[in-house]
Amino acid sequence: TGAITLDPGYKNSGSCQSEITFLDGEEGILRYRGYSIEELAEKADFLEVSYLVIFGELPTKDQLTKFENDIRKHTLVNEEMKNIIDGFPKTAHPMGVLSSLTSALTAFNPKPVNVENEKEMYEAVCKTMGKFLVIATWTYRKMKGYPLNYYDNTKGYVENFMRLMFEIPTEPYKMNPIVTNALDKLFILHADHEQNCSTSTVRIVGSSHAGLFASISAGVSALWGPLHGGANQAVLEMLEAIQADGGDAEKYMAKAKDKDDPFRLMGFGHRVYKNFDPRARIIKKAADEVLNDLGVDDPILDIAKKLEAAALVDDYFVSRKLYPNVDFYSGIIYRALGIPTDMFTVMFAIGRLPGWIAQWKEMRLNKEPIGRPRQVYTGYPLREFVPVEKR
Ligand code: CMC
Repeated sequence: TGAITLDPGYKNSGSCQSEITFLDGEEGILRYRGYSIEELAEKADFLEVSYLVIFGELPTKDQLTKFENDIRKHTLVNEEMKNIIDGFPKTAHPMGVLSSLTSALTAFNPKPVNVENEKEMYEAVCKTMGKFLVIATWTYRKMKGYPLNYYDNTKGYVENFMRLMFEIPTEPYKMNPIVTNALDKLFILHADHEQNCSTSTVRIVGSSHAGLFASISAGVSALWGPLHGGANQAVLEMLEAIQADGGDAEKYMAKAKDKDDPFRLMGFGHRVYKNFDPRARIIKKAADEVLNDLGVDDPILDIAKKLEAAALVDDYFVSRKLYPNVDFYSGIIYRALGIPTDMFTVMFAIGRLPGWIAQWKEMRLNKEPIGRPRQVYTGYPLREFVPVEKR
């Protein structure tokens, strides 16, 4: 096998060949299946982009209508799942609950999917898209102690998200197109991002031929961490802490630069974007528009802008090529839309779902071998066993 090349964090290792997402970190370019993220965010809707990411082509009108209908057919979640939700304390973090519930879906759908069979795979896609959205919102309903909601077949996917989350029996939910359009855009911007931590997790778990739900449940756990998807919650908590501490952005910049202080400026830096994160640009603009359209004046946005402006001219950040990433401004929009902070990473998961599915499917169709990295052993050489009485 020869010498092993050590590459901690796989910073320079390609793990697969993929046709799904093109990313140029130096130039700040992101494309799904050849289409620019800027154009998709502007002109397409989330299910259209999901179809593109998963199946490789933009759907025709008929294909899209069928896709929406087929997802709808799969939005009923087995009633016994409710017993599982009831077992969690209200204080449980929604990401932990979501990962568990996604894994629990394997119990209700035990038959392995034959990836080679297009019809079976298509059905598995619709089932995952339908059920995941519903259980994602149930994590919030559980936290609030609200009765669980069911999908409304007369409404779209993103509209249903808001309804499933917020409609209560005594008060019909009033749909606001500003809110649903903004959410649609955010989900599109999160739909895929090549071999990031959670996607690599989904691929590597699936490479042992573990099922789709089991692999996605692992992806949710990987996404939860504050260095990955959990950063969006961490950003908002950081901005709130800065505000509570008098709004002194400089003080926190200094903390982030201090190598003896573990504090990092959340929402800054990226493993592959070393110029700017194209998603952050779109989201920053959207944040301005959404706050303006909803008439929200959020001082947190001012702190975020102050931090960004300071970092962009600061030697520490400039020399390390640390720029605001997708998570820096998304939380500000979520907050304006009324989404509670500990649901932010769940929002990311809903957006990333089509990417996870597409990458899992591609990995299986490419017949990739089981993921199994090597290591460089740094422990003891052979030692003689010493019986317990002699130690
Ligand atoms: N604040 C302060 N210093 C930082 C930051 C930051 N946010 N990010 C990186 N650095 C420094 C780091 O200390 C290191 O300095 P030095 O060379 O002196 O040791 C240098 O920049 C390179 O950082 P790294 O940790 O080696 O880079 P990485 O590619 O391993 O990590 C990252 C990338 C995103 C994990 C990291 O930048 C980070 O922790 N950022 C904050 C968390 C965050 O916003 N995550 C969301 C990422 S985007 C969406 C997603 O993936 O979910």
